[in-house]
Amino acid sequence: RYTIAAACAVTLARQRGFPMPSHLLSVDSLSRDAVDHLIRIAERMEPIAQRRKVTRVLEGAVLGNLFFEASTRTRISFNAAFCRLGGSVCDTTGFTFSSMAKGESLYDTSRVMGGYVDAIVMRHPEQGSVAEFAEATQVPVINGGDGPGEHPSQALLDVYTITKEFARLGKPLAGAHLLLTGDLKYGRTVHSLIKLLSLYDPLRITLVSPPGLEMPQHLVDLVASRGHRIETRPNLAESFDDVDVIYATRIQRERFTAEMSESFAELTSDFVVDRGFLDRRCSPTTIVMHPLPRDSRPGANDLSTDLNGDPRLAIFRQTDNGIPMRMAIFAHLLQVEDQVERDLRDV
Ligand code: CP
Repeated sequence: RYTIAAACAVTLARQRGFPMPSHLLSVDSLSRDAVDHLIRIAERMEPIAQRRKVTRVLEGAVLGNLFFEASTRTRISFNAAFCRLGGSVCDTTGFTFSSMAKGESLYDTSRVMGGYVDAIVMRHPEQGSVAEFAEATQVPVINGGDGPGEHPSQALLDVYTITKEFARLGKPLAGAHLLLTGDLKYGRTVHSLIKLLSLYDPLRITLVSPPGLEMPQHLVDLVASRGHRIETRPNLAESFDDVDVIYATRIQRERFTAEMSESFAELTSDFVVDRGFLDRRCSPTTIVMHPLPRDSRPGANDLSTDLNGDPRLAIFRQTDNGIPMRMAIFAHLLQVEDQVERDLRDV
């Protein structure tokens, strides 16, 4: 069980200075082999995620779930993934109920938490803050979203979803055409996703965003430098009939300056993905993804709810995939993959 075997192995290896898989802060730390490995573990986790099989491999281990910014999916699915592996979870939500409200630093919080728990997931509104936090602790830290920076576990579950959807449709991923649309400037999920996609065989990626919310140029350059065809279109008012995947994102108003809030007060509907757009401009096998939440407030012009129930809408298959992928991340970082395999064989 985790406390006796894996934790001791991890601690000893760290003390002896062995290189260990330590944190998941950015997808920059992942090679294509690492992504494929995590996908293979996630596939193995499916029966446990669906409660058809049971493992207690993390019995005795405790996860610290620290969320200083709003979350439903990431916080709950990391929590559920740890519990499905037999562990327990302590969490804190928002600054108000943490001692950061009394001026405690990231460093002190991190040092303290490292003494209480075996792994930490953290979300924080400032880019780079989770990496700063991770520097002060001995336990693995997973970035659950740092402002407009990155969201690596979301990108991993997105790539996992894309591979499963392509397998379901009998399509090869090599040469696929992906359309990323919405707030590509502040949407951290697309920043992590486009970097992970750049590890794959050449793809075609089209970017469509409202003016002022474009994908950062350094990410466009990175993808192009790895041999992918990357293009920009001004809006969705043309044919996208060879697009395999639409990945829509919410406009991240919480990251806007006052000046930006004013200029984006009225969002045009030119960027809305709805049933009409899919029927008129896309192929019948195009799938639609979105990291969620989907902003359903009047005038938000996010991914339309008129697609609910449409098999092309993959968003809830995507959220379901979050559990096995997050279980895979824990199993890998806490080095219990082999024990899970044994449990899968035994049960
Ligand atoms: N996709 C995602 O990060 O959702 P939450 O903000 O609900 O965690």
